[in-house]
Amino acid sequence: MYRDRIRMNSLWGRVMSPEEAALMIRDGMVVGMSGFTRAGDCKEVPFALAERARLEPLKITLMTGASLGNDIDQTLAEANVIARRIPFQGDPTLRRKINSGEVMFIDQHLSETVELLRSRQIPPIDIAVVEASAITEAGGIVPTTSVGNSASFAVLAERVIVEINLTMPQELEGMHDIFFPTYRPFRTPIPVIAPETRVGLPAIPVDPQKIAGIVITRKTDSPSRLEPPDAETQAIAGHLDAFLTNEVRRGRLSPSLQPLQVGIGSIANAVTHGFLESRFNNLTMYSEVLQDSAFELLDAGKLRFASGSSFTLSADRYAQVLADLPRYRDRMVLRPQEISNHPEVVRRLGIIAINTALECDIFGNVNSTHVGGTHMMNGIGGSGDFARNAHFSVFVTKSTAKGGAISSIVPMVSHVDHTEHDVDIIVTEIGLADLRGLAPRERAELMIRNCAHPRYREALLEYFRAACRRGGHTPHLLEEALSWHVRARETGSMLA
Ligand code: COA
Repeated sequence: MYRDRIRMNSLWGRVMSPEEAALMIRDGMVVGMSGFTRAGDCKEVPFALAERARLEPLKITLMTGASLGNDIDQTLAEANVIARRIPFQGDPTLRRKINSGEVMFIDQHLSETVELLRSRQIPPIDIAVVEASAITEAGGIVPTTSVGNSASFAVLAERVIVEINLTMPQELEGMHDIFFPTYRPFRTPIPVIAPETRVGLPAIPVDPQKIAGIVITRKTDSPSRLEPPDAETQAIAGHLDAFLTNEVRRGRLSPSLQPLQVGIGSIANAVTHGFLESRFNNLTMYSEVLQDSAFELLDAGKLRFASGSSFTLSADRYAQVLADLPRYRDRMVLRPQEISNHPEVVRRLGIIAINTALECDIFGNVNSTHVGGTHMMNGIGGSGDFARNAHFSVFVTKSTAKGGAISSIVPMVSHVDHTEHDVDIIVTEIGLADLRGLAPRERAELMIRNCAHPRYREALLEYFRAACRRGGHTPHLLEEALSWHVRARETGSMLA
């Protein structure tokens, strides 16, 4: 029945139920599951695992590409299956468990996880569970809507469980480019020299002997949860458009710009959407996640080529893209996240990186992960992979959060993900601060004037002036630097 999906005859006998497959996962194991920003997650075995955890002690280290859909993190967290979680998540239940200290979360640059595994710097993967649209005649695993870390998980794990997803069109085959860096010493360069360069294989090459179980599923990816563009995100897109237009006018960029990387979430999606109305054309993306807006740009002919590690779409877009795959096949490629985010390639291609901040300080340090300095939101994701190595690195954020009670521009960030050295441009709905080539004192003036909400501007200026009177290359009043966060924790608002 599934012979067109499992094309290696010797594997037909390994089809089993999710419950049977989950029995291979034992207490204390390290499990690598497919899934990247809700795309291409394995959709059966995690639930069988959660069921088993009701009857026996079962705790695992769970590694993925990035966040999972289908409430998988929630289900596993509620069943207390997850002891450790690496390298990214986005689920409210798991977030609570991380912040209460019940789950140990290792927040990692997304390009690094498999590098650490390969060099045995973290404990090895016992079992990989990977979603596929097919297994080839040679036993190659054809991924679905994401590659993420699946390829290295499958290659490095002792055993592999494959979930064949019958809802995934077979036309997905050929859209992936599976490449592994060579081993050190004498590692050779990754030969990607443009977003469209293909350097690898269409399927994950595993020893078929390692495929210990095959599970069939008919569940779809979860749709993305994007807020539509609003006045503020449109203003952010507008400021960025004006800035890039000026870069073109001054001859520093061509009208095709340079390959774009755009982060996750509603603001990032709205910013990409903004390119639809822009004068730029023949654009390319070398990004991590391709959201709805990337497909809008492809449809409009604005985007010539998109390289990513997954596509994560709203329900309507998902149905349309899966039905229309032949239309996109020649204009996109999905790569392992190690390659989509690789510092070597990011620097070579001269990527324009656009990511989202929770808060920025007046000197340009960025916090993308920790609310109030202590509580994990999602994780750094790929933002650091791109920010440090980009042609220039842009961070976008609304100037306030929580109905204006929190300023996103603060004297000192309460946690640093991206240091001032990795941050070139900050954009809020108020305006844009081009921090390139500026010293800390110059940066602070520009940030306060261009990016801070008027409600907080005076207080920021007051802080900065007092700090300057005390002196220093990066002037601060250490006893006051985090007082805005303390006030927010105590009163719910940063307003004095
Ligand atoms: N203090 C406290 N909370 C804040 C805040 C601040 N300074 N700024 C934003 N928030 C809250 C918002 O109120 C919102 O909370 P809610 O979910 O309870 O409504 C939440 O953070 C999300 O903010 P939102 O403005 O909707 O932005 P977003 O959906 O674009 O997400 C990040 C923003 C930073 C959380 C998200 O982009 C992220 O996780 N980034 C890190 C990883 C990354 O950059 N990956 C991309 C690499 S490809």
